[in-house]
Amino acid sequence: MYRQLIRPLLFRFDPEQIHHATMNTLRNLLPLSGRLIESRLGIKDSRLEKKLWGLSFRNPVGLAAGFDKDAVLGDLWKYLGFGFVELGTVTPRPQPGNPRKRLFRLPEDKAIINRMGFNNAGVAAMQKRLAKLDKGDMIVGANIGKNKDTPNENAADDYLYCFEHLAEFVDYFVVNVSSPNTPGLRSLQEKDPLTRLLSALQDKNQVRKTPRPLLLKIAPDLSEAEIDDVVEVAKITALDGLIATNTTISRNGLRTSPAEIEAIGNGGLSGGPLTARSGEVLRLLSQKTEGKLPLIGVGGIMTPGDAIQRISDGASLIQIYSGFIYEGPGFVRSILESILNVSPYAKRT
Ligand code: FNR
Repeated sequence: MYRQLIRPLLFRFDPEQIHHATMNTLRNLLPLSGRLIESRLGIKDSRLEKKLWGLSFRNPVGLAAGFDKDAVLGDLWKYLGFGFVELGTVTPRPQPGNPRKRLFRLPEDKAIINRMGFNNAGVAAMQKRLAKLDKGDMIVGANIGKNKDTPNENAADDYLYCFEHLAEFVDYFVVNVSSPNTPGLRSLQEKDPLTRLLSALQDKNQVRKTPRPLLLKIAPDLSEAEIDDVVEVAKITALDGLIATNTTISRNGLRTSPAEIEAIGNGGLSGGPLTARSGEVLRLLSQKTEGKLPLIGVGGIMTPGDAIQRISDGASLIQIYSGFIYEGPGFVRSILESILNVSPYAKRT
């Protein structure tokens, strides 16, 4: 029904407007009818549960960062069947992001290009929302970033600020240095600045009574040598996990016409065209860490088969964004059903 009726209707509207309209609808609907909706869209089955970092995930399918940047729905995502949600990217101060139009669909490729630029209401607003949550069995992570006008030399201050404001309220943190839409941000993925940034965060984190799992999200555009550096930094700074991947700046292999791509301009590409590369980066990480570091697979998971493949390639958990837009709310359930049908994976959890 989603693909035949709802998606064509939603896709008639501007992507950003429809995103906010959908979020508003869900915000009103879920507190009242969440349990009913969950009975249709979710699956409760102990074989789907996953224990990681001392946390109990009710299932391994999460909503990727960027969908609920300001924790508008927060833990209500559980009613749509998700096992966890990553909120943000949030920055210390509110910022408007890039000028519109900045979000584009590429239906022929089942893809999205965005150059949102960390539009968000700031960490104080998120903290206020999170303080009111009754999370229950929902795992909530925060994806943290820096403000656009903070120079890279001071980036650590921004990440620390977000960390300290949210540590009481979330289950895990993700350091985002891989968005292509904040100028210069991705150079923080280089070995020295990355080591400094993550060490500063771990210094604060590890003296907490309950340190939070700290993860790093990387770009799919890193070379193998850069991936080696990331793995080394992850060891040095005792990271708890890696997330592969964010969106790509590549425009290779698209069906959408070059003229259309040219007209859209800069931004991060997600969805179908990212499946192969995100999978490849995940496999590399899994090999290079000898399967010892928990990995979250994200990027181009557009079918239940993609999800199964990502898990067999070494992902402990997976996340979806573009697949959710193209396949609709039933997509989480389809993935969970597939996981249950493939007995080795169900046993793994
Ligand atoms: C994103 N993504 C993203 N990632 C992140 O770490 N912080 C963010 O704020 C955002 N914002 C964002 C906005 C939009 C509109 C999109 C489409 C994506 C990246 C996202 O979390 C994910 O890593 C990629 O989209 C790849 O996964 P999919 O979309 O191919 O499933």
